[in-house]
Amino acid sequence: MLSRRTLLAAAAALPLAGSARAGLLRPAIDEDAPLRDVAAMHGLVYGCAVAGYELEQADFKAALLRESALLVPEYEMKRNAMEPAPGRYAFGPADMLVGFARGHGLKFRGHPLVWHRSNPDWLEDAVRASRNEDLFAGYIAKVMGRYCGRVQSWDVVNEILAPEDGRAGNLRNSFWLETFGPSYIDTAFHAARAADPHAQLVYNDWGCELAGPEHDRFRAATLKFLEGAKARGVPIDALGLQGHLRAYGEPVDQAKLRAFLDDVRALGFRILVTEHDVGDDGGPADAAARDAAVAEASARFLDVVVANPATDVVLTWGLSDRFLGAPGLRARLLGTAPRMLPLDRALERKPMWRAMARAFAAR
Ligand code: XIL
Repeated sequence: MLSRRTLLAAAAALPLAGSARAGLLRPAIDEDAPLRDVAAMHGLVYGCAVAGYELEQADFKAALLRESALLVPEYEMKRNAMEPAPGRYAFGPADMLVGFARGHGLKFRGHPLVWHRSNPDWLEDAVRASRNEDLFAGYIAKVMGRYCGRVQSWDVVNEILAPEDGRAGNLRNSFWLETFGPSYIDTAFHAARAADPHAQLVYNDWGCELAGPEHDRFRAATLKFLEGAKARGVPIDALGLQGHLRAYGEPVDQAKLRAFLDDVRALGFRILVTEHDVGDDGGPADAAARDAAVAEASARFLDVVVANPATDVVLTWGLSDRFLGAPGLRARLLGTAPRMLPLDRALERKPMWRAMARAFAAR
């Protein structure tokens, strides 16, 4: 029995146009089977980011429960939402989403615990002034302790690598690094493991998908970081690939991405796609053409990622185009409002939805 990867490699050698070649290998899909079910049939969990206000729309809530088996908060667990003032926590919005997920039998991801963005205004000054590790390790313990057993996976650190910053270990320069040095990362993961020993602990980042030298550097830096963390006994369980792509930008380099993910798997880490969407900026006003390009870009990425046996989860950064920004009247009239996600504004399934279903089904 030829494996799918062997078939894909053979097809890649065929003198056919990409779409014709891909068509040879894409399984038929059941248009009625929700993404969560297609994913589950092939050893994957599909989910999406959600914001509390979106659940106020009954039609969207129904579509979310139909399609998604896992939720991650777009806003509600960012630190500027969770701790607007020192020691004053606003857990209500996150509690609502965690409770909604639990009430409907959905899994839940926490995102993010330590990040250089989306922090409350008071935090950086407090970190730099006190140099107190409790400002992240204590926060991790507080938040993960609250949701212990109800949140199965956490982005413990987010976007910590930036080779272009020229720092040791290719680490992103941030107030975290400048205050505590590289050890803040290991400390964060150890604090997370102590807070909830059963939660999956994830390093989440972006920049491994394309062919260019900056992505070569990022892939190399990520492998070096993961190797070092493993050697130090840092409790990292998985690598999260954000998966933000652009349909009219540089295409995913499938060979480089495949080899990178094979190396991540060989190190013993699981793999998640945590924030997949495909920007259609720069495309034509013709929405159908943009939808096709978005679907092709998504398939080019997911075909490689889900083929890796270490990949367990695929999330999109939202489910419907309905909530993508607030396109003005002109954008709506010209049809240039963003179309980055599996469902359109009317919650109809788009070519991207079908491309994702096919990628899951072809696993
Ligand atoms: C973004 C949200 O989508 C925005 O609405 C918010 O204002 C800022 O955060 N990488 C991440 C996500 O890890 O948390 C970011 O989400 C998008 C980039």
